[in-house]
Amino acid sequence: MAPDTATVAPATAADEEAIVALWQAAGLTRPWNDPVADFRRALATPASDVLVARIGGSLAGAVMVGDDGHRGWVYYLGVDPQRRRRGIGGQLMAGAEDWLRRRGCDKIMFMVRNDNLATKAFYAALGYEENAVVTMGRRLDDQGRGRSRS
Ligand SMILES: CC(C)(COP(=O)(O)OP(=O)(O)OC[C@H]1O[C@@H](n2cnc3c(N)ncnc32)[C@H](O)[C@@H]1OP(=O)(O)O)[C@@H](O)C(=O)NCCC(=O)NCCS
Repeated sequence: MAPDTATVAPATAADEEAIVALWQAAGLTRPWNDPVADFRRALATPASDVLVARIGGSLAGAVMVGDDGHRGWVYYLGVDPQRRRRGIGGQLMAGAEDWLRRRGCDKIMFMVRNDNLATKAFYAALGYEENAVVTMGRRLDDQGRGRSRS
C-alpha cells in the first residue's frame, strides 16, 4: 500500500486518552505497567516525551522517547491497527531519532521480545541490528523480589 504522510509532533495532555487507548489496541500495555502514569511522567520530565503521528488531525500512532544521559531509548511504539504498513511506524521512529539527535544522543535503543518476529522485521527494514547483549533487571517496588518484568 502507498505510504501515508503523517505529521509527527510532541503530544499534549489532551492526547492522553486516545494515545493510551491506541497503546492498548496495539498490545503494548502490561498489567504491571500503568500507561497513564507512564504518559504523564514522559510529558512532565524534560528528558523524555511522547511523539504522536497524525493524519488529517486524527491519531495514527505514538511513541515514547527518552534520553538517559548517555543513550536514547524508545518505548511504546504503536500504530493504529487500521493504518499499518503505510509508513507511519517508520515516520515515528524517524521522529524519535531526530528528537534524540537534537539532545546530542548518538545511539538509540529499545527492547523487543525475542519472539516478536514481525516487529523485528520492521526494525530490520529501518536498518536496525540486534545487539549481542541481554538486558537484566529487577523491579524496585515491593513486587520486586526475584521478578524481572520490563
Ligand atoms: C511495529 C509497528 C509499529 C510497525 O508500524 P507500521 O506503520 O506498520 O510500519 P511501516 O509501515 O513503517 O513499516 C515499514 C517496513 O517495516 C517492515 N514491516 C512492518 N511491519 C511488518 C510486519 N508485520 N512483518 C514484516 N515486516 C514488517 C516492512 O518492510 C515495511 O515496509 P513495507 O510495508 O513497504 O513492506 C506496528 O506493526 C505496531 O504497532 N505493532 C504492534 C506494537 C509493537 O509491536 N510495537 C513495537 C514494540 S517493540
